[in-house]
Amino acid sequence: MPLNPHTKLNTGAIMPTVGLGTWKSKPGEVEHAVETALRHGYKHIDTATAYSNEAEVGKGIKASGVPREDFFLTTKLNNPDMGHPKEALEYSLQQLDTPYLDLWLMHWPAPMTKEGGPDKSIDWLDTWHEMEKLYKTHPDKIKAIGVSNFCVEYLQRLLDNSEVVPAVNQIELHPSCPQQAIVDFCTSKGIVVTAYSPLGSDGSPLLKNPVVNKIAEKHNVSPAIVLISLQANRPNVNVLPKSVTKERVISNFQLIDLSDEEVKELNDISKTESFRACHPKWAGWGNLGFTEAV
Ligand code: A2P
Repeated sequence: MPLNPHTKLNTGAIMPTVGLGTWKSKPGEVEHAVETALRHGYKHIDTATAYSNEAEVGKGIKASGVPREDFFLTTKLNNPDMGHPKEALEYSLQQLDTPYLDLWLMHWPAPMTKEGGPDKSIDWLDTWHEMEKLYKTHPDKIKAIGVSNFCVEYLQRLLDNSEVVPAVNQIELHPSCPQQAIVDFCTSKGIVVTAYSPLGSDGSPLLKNPVVNKIAEKHNVSPAIVLISLQANRPNVNVLPKSVTKERVISNFQLIDLSDEEVKELNDISKTESFRACHPKWAGWGNLGFTEAV
């Protein structure tokens, strides 16, 4: 299958196929990763208030010297901020030192208290309506809104009760977590899907998987490139490999076409080896409609 040249949002904006993920990228590491990425062709940087690295991502952007209008920037509304999204938006803009976001996502449909438990006084749908209002009243600050970690059931509730169709649903996607039903649903509704943790996150067994390694050897690339390319080969999907290692940031951008047979072999991995790097249960709201397996 051919690589996606890019994905197109329901706003008409173009979203690059590959972006730099920064979940778990610590201050002290992430500035250089962002600078390296932007200097080596990446046109999308993804962060989140929850990652506690927006300020340093902003520094990396400045250090790269790449003009703001030349790349796509995403951040996410943090779970404990779901009762006051306007303040949270201003905080993100200030931390990132940017006048606008290309994409602002609800990080999880899971309001949380400052102490870290579920905040049952807030309905995430009300927060989405607040995000819609901010999007409409501040087009200079927010170019698109979307969601993250939404299953089909939650997306359907949102679509049935809202005016703005999310531009994006950002979810975990890799061969051990293919979530094809969510991808298909999003595609049918014009929602682009962004894949996070395409390598399976820290310590992933996928990098040692024999099928992944066999295909990597055949193409003379790293196993990481096979895994990132798999997502970039899926229609309507773009992908966020995370690395703070200079050589990996650079090499992860060099994607390859995979044959239909290779894609099938990679997809079959989930039949025997299935896991989530980020389980929805962490937020204290149960499974958030996700199935235990994938
Ligand atoms: P590091 O950031 O130390 O370079 P994911 O994108 O699925 O979240 O995976 C991120 C994890 O994979 C991190 O531990 C990252 O390490 C590691 N990683 C990123 N790129 C590569 C690569 N090309 N080869 C091996 N490991 C990689």
